[in-house]
Amino acid sequence: MSQFLANVFPTESNIPESYRIGSPIEQREYLINGEMRTWTGNLNPVLSPVFVKEGDTFTQKLIGSTPLLTTKESLEALEAAVNAYDLGHGVWPTLSVTGRIEHVEKFLESMRKKRDEVVKLLMWEIGKTLKDSEKEFDRTCDYIVDTIKAYKELDRNSAKLVEEQGFMAQIRRVPLGVSLCMGPYNYPLNETFTTLIPALIMGNTVVFKPAKYGVLLIRPLIETFRDSFPPGVINIIYGRGRETVGALMESGKIDVFAFIGTNKGANDLKKLHPKSHRLKAILGLDAKNPAIVLPDADLDNAVSECITGSLSFNGQRCTALKILFVHKSVVDSFIKKFSATLDKMKPGMPWESGVSLTPLPEPGKVEFLLDLVEDAKKHGATIVNDHGGEHTHTFFYPAVMYPVNDKMKLYYEEQFGPVVPIVPFDDDEEAIKYVLNSNFGQQVSIFGSDSKRVANLMDAFVNQVGRINLNAQSQRGPDTFPFNGRKDSAEGTLSIADALRVFSIRTLVATKSTDENKQIISTIIRNRESAFLSTDYIF
Ligand code: G3H
Repeated sequence: MSQFLANVFPTESNIPESYRIGSPIEQREYLINGEMRTWTGNLNPVLSPVFVKEGDTFTQKLIGSTPLLTTKESLEALEAAVNAYDLGHGVWPTLSVTGRIEHVEKFLESMRKKRDEVVKLLMWEIGKTLKDSEKEFDRTCDYIVDTIKAYKELDRNSAKLVEEQGFMAQIRRVPLGVSLCMGPYNYPLNETFTTLIPALIMGNTVVFKPAKYGVLLIRPLIETFRDSFPPGVINIIYGRGRETVGALMESGKIDVFAFIGTNKGANDLKKLHPKSHRLKAILGLDAKNPAIVLPDADLDNAVSECITGSLSFNGQRCTALKILFVHKSVVDSFIKKFSATLDKMKPGMPWESGVSLTPLPEPGKVEFLLDLVEDAKKHGATIVNDHGGEHTHTFFYPAVMYPVNDKMKLYYEEQFGPVVPIVPFDDDEEAIKYVLNSNFGQQVSIFGSDSKRVANLMDAFVNQVGRINLNAQSQRGPDTFPFNGRKDSAEGTLSIADALRVFSIRTLVATKSTDENKQIISTIIRNRESAFLSTDYIF
């Protein structure tokens, strides 16, 4: 074991009382058709990335277990969602905008009361720091508030009738049907809810399967879901993907597939749907976002942005900077500053004050990262920072690898963890070619001040990636900005407003603008005879 990391894991008594997990949480509950059911079958153990020290022994903390449901329960959840949608005639898809908003507001109000519980589980289940776990929770609440606001605006804009070429019409957004929502382990609350909430508010019914890790933290919200929505509108299932989600897709009854994960996982699941043309997919997938540091970049800013870009939450962000192209003329100073800044990052447990490097939740992740490091070494790179690559159990101290080249796995593969590859370059074309030839196309960050050179790079990337960041790390936020990707990185665009669009379709009532038709339309509106054809709107 690394001496440097010998004390990174705590003894039980080192853990502050308010953050102790106590005895494991045995979760047997799941939600189908507004009913909390109790599972009596096998359970899936939930192991924290945190090990606890007792004498010389380190034991991975067992924090609970979740139901290992089978195809049967999964199909029951689907049936409940299908019935609640009722071919678009269910209570939920036909409820007024005000009505649906009231349900979501009720949900948000009780969700806020669960903050402490969810935050604590975020720390224990995925090793996210206290500060970032709180941020994830609060950002999710803000997202819901903003979604409600955006939905009201959307509704206001569709309240009027349009006249065009002798036709008059009312165009509104309506739900798509039954949605399957699956989130990722790195943002098990936030990213999941950025599809779940828009899906619900637009009138779809949902089967929701929590991420692989970060599962228990949904438990405190199950009653909240149950009490806030009509039966069958939201159903929550647990278990192995193949048995549960596979059967849902094979049924052909899923209309919207919202998935944040790997492109391989998304492909495999999409293929199971018998009528692919009926399936709308909203996908957030893999990425290998490069940073390009030009000779005239403000190095202090570039280093600071590249540090957070590549290492916040230990590099486990889809938007993380996963390869740094640094111009040869500044690469030595860049590495020196980067390593010095990294030296100041504190390794430790998520609840410790000032900590930013924490253990990794994925089993086998340390070995995977070590393999990338070894492969890079074999092809000529070295670890250039102190203690880089030192590890103990689930903890891996960031390794900065230099010089990285195209023979190494690290050049192409998404590490999704604390290994930082630095590629020296002479000619900007080298970085351009990297982006052009990459299978991924999420974002890129350019650091520099020569406007002509920066503009040249920007224009080279605009048809390759979803977002180009100037003198800033890659990121999703602000959540009002479009978040998408090209190639294997995404399908569809998310943002507060875009998410409302992707979970709905525009339907219109149109007629020729004759006196007789106008008469019928105005009678319907005046007498409030239709829920769709109406000029009412909410403030
Ligand atoms: O994992 C991908 C997340 O969408 C990234 O969001 O850039 O706000 O960390 P973030």
